[in-house]
Amino acid sequence: MTWLITGGAGYIGSHVVRAMAEAGEPVAVLDDLSSGVRDRLPAEVPLVHGSTLDRELLDTTFAELEVTGVVHLAAKKQVGESVEQPLRYYRENVHGLTELLEAVVAAGIRNFLFSSSAAVYGMPDVELVTEDLPGAPMNPYGETKLAGEWLVRAVGQAHALSTACLRYFNVAGATRPELADTGVFNIIPMMFERITHGEAPRIFGDDYATPDGTCIRDYIHVEDLASAHLAVARRLSAQPEPGDLTVNIGTGQGVSVREMADLIGEISGHPELSPVVEPRRAGDPARVVGSTELIAKELGWSARHGVRAMVESAWEGWCLHHPEARG
Ligand SMILES: NC(=O)c1ccc[n+]([C@@H]2O[C@H](COP(=O)([O-])OP(=O)(O)OC[C@H]3O[C@@H](n4cnc5c(N)ncnc54)[C@H](O)[C@@H]3O)[C@@H](O)[C@H]2O)c1
Repeated sequence: MTWLITGGAGYIGSHVVRAMAEAGEPVAVLDDLSSGVRDRLPAEVPLVHGSTLDRELLDTTFAELEVTGVVHLAAKKQVGESVEQPLRYYRENVHGLTELLEAVVAAGIRNFLFSSSAAVYGMPDVELVTEDLPGAPMNPYGETKLAGEWLVRAVGQAHALSTACLRYFNVAGATRPELADTGVFNIIPMMFERITHGEAPRIFGDDYATPDGTCIRDYIHVEDLASAHLAVARRLSAQPEPGDLTVNIGTGQGVSVREMADLIGEISGHPELSPVVEPRRAGDPARVVGSTELIAKELGWSARHGVRAMVESAWEGWCLHHPEARG
């Protein structure tokens, strides 16, 4: 029994690979290394260098590695880029998934986990986002994740696959500095970058209907996210009948942008760089915090790490790639 982890050389994928391998699950990786890095993987984990768009490669890989389950993380993930390049995002994220699922069905693979995102919810106007809210993505990236979920569930039903769609909230932190996210696409690295250049972190809007006026998000430590994948993978392979599980993966705790800026100032050793407030950005919902009830009920799983551990470990990873940040 082998789990093939697509996108396993990426930020989240490399954590999932380690969590599953350390728990004794046989794993292999398929990654085109477009943003992934070989060195993130333990030496003993086989890497197939190629794309989910390459059907022939998928067929050979499934046969040669005797794959029995797939954890599909490979995707393009930048919201802004998806607005500029929707065709590329639909091709990589939806067409890539279609090719992969065709190969999965042809090979008789029975278990399939899909990396979805809280981006499927768009601008939810609720205290806690539950999985039954209708999808209303605000950009092509979120659309590809929602379309991906539909496809995964439909194929699961039609071909008797056990499937899971995991809706990640804001992923942060690292189990070790070398595995940290190197992109600067979300609030934590964006604030680190400002601080590294001696500039105050920016807050986009402080007139939202939240206690301190800044937007609120749910951050999940990547180590917790990886442990959730292991729990879901084991559930899928143990369940006697095929079925789908669509769950939020977050902490259920909201952290405001101002709270995050203060914490980042403290942990980076630059509390004097107090944040500057700029106008709101278009399309930023005031509050997106996930309900964690369903995953707790279904799997008995909950996150263990708080936001401080996320920022501390993310800062260590940032400093590895930006030694000048320590000043
Ligand atoms: N980082 C987050 O906060 C977040 C939040 C919600 C969902 N997600 C989803 O989690 C998954 C992993 O994200 P990440 O943050 O680790 O990003 P990442 O860019 O670090 O990892 C993506 C990996 O997939 C590989 N890849 C991309 N397209 C491929 C293709 N067509 N074929 C084979 N490999 C391909 C890349 O080389 C990379 O290793 C993505 O599906 C992303 O949409 C991420």
